[in-house]
Amino acid sequence: MATATAPAPAKPRHAKPKVADQKMLINGKWVNSASGKTFPTTDPTNGETICNVAEGDKVDIDLAVKAAREAFERGPWSRMSAAERGVLLLKLADAVEKHKDELAALESLDNGKPINDSLLADLPMTSACYRYYAGWADKIMGQTIPIAGDYFCYTRHEPIGVVGQIIPWNFPLLMQAWKWAPALACGNTVVLKPAEQTPLTALRVAQLAQEVGFPDGVINVVPGYGPTAGAALSGHMDVDKIAFTGETTTGKIVMKAAADSNLKRVSLELGGKSPNIVFADADLDAAIEGAYFGLFFNQGQCCCAGSRLFVQESVYDAFVQKITDKAKGRKVGDPFSTETEQGPQVSQEQFDRVMGYIDAGQKDGAKMLVGGGRVGDRGYFIQPTVFCDVKDEMKIAKEEIFGPVMSILKFKDADEVIARGNRTMYGLAAAVWTKDVKKALRLANGLRAGTVWVNCFDVFDAAAPFGGFKMSGIGRELGQYALQLYTEVKTVTMAM
Ligand code: NAI
Ligand code: MG
Repeated sequence: MATATAPAPAKPRHAKPKVADQKMLINGKWVNSASGKTFPTTDPTNGETICNVAEGDKVDIDLAVKAAREAFERGPWSRMSAAERGVLLLKLADAVEKHKDELAALESLDNGKPINDSLLADLPMTSACYRYYAGWADKIMGQTIPIAGDYFCYTRHEPIGVVGQIIPWNFPLLMQAWKWAPALACGNTVVLKPAEQTPLTALRVAQLAQEVGFPDGVINVVPGYGPTAGAALSGHMDVDKIAFTGETTTGKIVMKAAADSNLKRVSLELGGKSPNIVFADADLDAAIEGAYFGLFFNQGQCCCAGSRLFVQESVYDAFVQKITDKAKGRKVGDPFSTETEQGPQVSQEQFDRVMGYIDAGQKDGAKMLVGGGRVGDRGYFIQPTVFCDVKDEMKIAKEEIFGPVMSILKFKDADEVIARGNRTMYGLAAAVWTKDVKKALRLANGLRAGTVWVNCFDVFDAAAPFGGFKMSGIGRELGQYALQLYTEVKTVTMAM
């Protein structure tokens, strides 16, 4: 029976939450840091302190690793069935969903991303990720192998043990889910160090995990800085695996620390300089939408941003004109307004870095068509910026900018653009826009990247693997592939 219910009135502005000072979670207890030190997490719209957070260092990491070890080897977690682990992950997915408004507001407060993005992208993808791996928990299994001789041979896929995880600030909730969900589904215990810029949602989700019944010590969260808490975790002798997302140079430091300590397993999801390639025969309106979203989404702070936009010469001028007009209309401002499309960059450091790249683009002779300046006089807002006539050797075409700065390059044909697209140390993602299926497949095969999108961009799903070729990383997160990151294979051979 149809009932006429009026649609809920659109909320023009969500309320900014108030947040109390935060402790860290070790062995199921909320504690201060051993040193008593705290650090401020700031509101990127004005630089003011939101609250102070317990600042972890070596001693706190040690305590967290001990708790995780105990939970892995002797706690109730070690006796739980795989199906029971799955149920806990399902409950966590439900809890995240139930608290989606609160978590979205917290994410927008700490990171600066528009509330609509938090609500419509980060939150549903986060709960979907926990739910997806809940399904895997009791479907992780080995093989029986017909080896020569009179033997019974089989493999077991066992959890690795204590897993250290270090995440960045661009998608705090989602990166936590990408790390926790497969690790826990596989039966590991975790010590997470969230990014110092955005620790708040990680702590809140940890609280939810406790409430739904994860046993003490299975999940530990130690906020703090990279060179202290992060380094202690990646160099720890009793951590069996480290999973890291962030900058490529930091990834190298983490890998080296892993090598210099106990050769812990390493998975890395690092930077990118992804080519987004538009052929003249593409649906140009769709390509413009995709290129615009693929660069400006999340204030440009995406590892897979389409930051080298290659446009075929015959449509170049028209394309540049249209996308520039579109960028002019982008609404920059208050993350808590539902009208806002772009909030501030996450920090002063990132603001300065992006402004530095805008400078470099101008000095190197690229043509700036729109933007280039800050918005307002406080906070870290940057105008959507478009450069055309960008050349491969310019700094803005080579380095990860991580801001709302589009670089458009011109190309002639498929062979040329495949070669130029691949001429980078990175290999995270790529995209191609064309109506010609043969050309699309040729590009999909020829581009050296972990993900290739065809006539779309930024399509993510918990079931589809994501990760980098070359210096964009090691290993694949998401999908069935992530189970390999969090299990050891044991071969058992028994004489018959
Ligand atoms: P970062 O790589 O320094 O930070 C990421 C995480 O690593 C944070 O939790 C940080 O505390 C930790 N970390 C830093 N130094 C560490 C160390 N020595 N040992 C262990 N952990 C450490 O990235 P940052 O400085 O926040 O951003 C700089 C640039 O990195 C950005 O402009 C962007 O280009 C890139 N980036 C890429 C990301 C991606 O998703 N691939 C995410 C964040 C940043
Ligand atoms: Mg750094």
